[in-house]
Amino acid sequence: MEKVIILDFGSQYTQLIARCVRELKIYSEIMPCTVSLGRIKKKSPVAIILSGGPASVSAKSSPACSREVFNLGVPVLGICYGMQLTSKLLGGKVLISSKREYGKADLFIDRKDALFAGLKKKLTVWMSHGDRVAELPRGYERIAHSNNSPNAVMRNSSKKIYGLQFHPEVVHTAQGKRILKNFLYGICGCKGEWDMKSFIKHSVDEIREKAGDSHVVCALSGGVDSSVLAVLLRKAIGGNLTCIFVDNGVLRLNEHTKVINTFKGHYRIDLKFIDARKRFLDKLKGVTDPERKRKIIGNEFIKVFEEETKKIGNVKYLAQGTLYPDVIESVSFKGAPSATIKSHHNVGGLPKRMKLKLIEPFRELFKDEVRVVGAELGLPDEIIWRQPFPGPGLAVRIVGEVNSKRLDILKKADVIVVEEIKKAGYYRKVWQSFAVLLPVKSVGVMGDERTYDNTIAIRAVHSRDGMTADWVKFPYELLGVMSNRIINEVKGVNRVVYDISSKPPGTIEWE
Ligand code: XMP
Repeated sequence: MEKVIILDFGSQYTQLIARCVRELKIYSEIMPCTVSLGRIKKKSPVAIILSGGPASVSAKSSPACSREVFNLGVPVLGICYGMQLTSKLLGGKVLISSKREYGKADLFIDRKDALFAGLKKKLTVWMSHGDRVAELPRGYERIAHSNNSPNAVMRNSSKKIYGLQFHPEVVHTAQGKRILKNFLYGICGCKGEWDMKSFIKHSVDEIREKAGDSHVVCALSGGVDSSVLAVLLRKAIGGNLTCIFVDNGVLRLNEHTKVINTFKGHYRIDLKFIDARKRFLDKLKGVTDPERKRKIIGNEFIKVFEEETKKIGNVKYLAQGTLYPDVIESVSFKGAPSATIKSHHNVGGLPKRMKLKLIEPFRELFKDEVRVVGAELGLPDEIIWRQPFPGPGLAVRIVGEVNSKRLDILKKADVIVVEEIKKAGYYRKVWQSFAVLLPVKSVGVMGDERTYDNTIAIRAVHSRDGMTADWVKFPYELLGVMSNRIINEVKGVNRVVYDISSKPPGTIEWE
């Protein structure tokens, strides 16, 4: 399989490079820039891409890769910091520019090259740098310039080493993908055989080989990742799979029926449905602290899952829908450990405690790629396009105590929000959209009666990965319809508010 290694120097765009390469049907993997030469060689890459990064190559402790990377006989493409580092390591001169170049710039192509095949002589590119390459290393020539970067693109044709001062991986460089394609296909000779069909075939073989005749369990939540995983496993090992689906009492309206019908009914998966609603709600009684709620739900889930797995007996493997962004060893220059904002509920604690071996077929994929796998496996759009739903479920959308009365109110309001957002065509366009029940009662008037009832907040955000988010500017009409319906149809609610906080400083969920 053709593989591209991306060495990460801490750029916020490194993942975009990986994604872009994969969209060009070539498998790519990100490694920290400090990775050993041996580990790179072991991958037998067809090309190495050096990412950008926030540091200056002139700074003392700036990150670097081994100089030997350029002597592997593998084509190299340095992007921004990657180009400056290439120059520095190979004997060129990098200077701090008097003018920072940030934003769109015109790139003028000076020499014909396979890198620019099919492109015009003047391109719009996106720059973001303070340093610039003042003198090229010996054996290199400039093939394009911009007003602020005389050496905007450099090449060493015989060694197939290139440097770009701009970022081809961001959308603002209109022809960026074409440039990467030209590099990978035209210069490195890639054929582009990576696609989801081949991924599925490869994974199925691998899972069969790994699991043999052993039994595999999988925690099914009904979300995109675990659903696609369950169907993939079913295809690979059929009856040797048991999925465990726990109703923790804080799922959305009718969620458990939907999951059972789909996976037990339609996919004929051996699904163990555990109705643990009472058990979870008893534990949550009187608890208002968000972190305690999260911990209770996380711990209780592990206990239930462990008990049920023991009942199956002879289980050797646990399958998890771990995604690529969770496993990349990215470079962090911040140094300080990041604070725990929320303790996340996931099944990460399970394998250690239960001494199970892991099967994680999606370790190499991004979420949108898992969606493509799901579509390829024939999963319905309703599952593939589900918005993310947190492990602690509605418990983190009920501010204050979680009890069945308050759950009932939130479930009804949430259905209305989702229905209206789907109707208005926004469901797939936003990252998440849901209702939150606040611990605030206010006075209202309905008919001629005074009311003193609950408040529902509507939350909707755009986000790429949940790390940062922007609130969605819905049309007032849509907000109006949601508010009207919630107040009219959900008993116990007399006020609806819209959350207009972004992340940071807010978070997406309220707890
Ligand atoms: P926050 O609220 O931290 O959420 O901005 C970021 C994203 O993570 C989801 N989320 C969770 N996902 N287990 C999960 O699997 C959790 O415990 C959890 N808490 C939050 C949240 O829905 C949003 O997409």
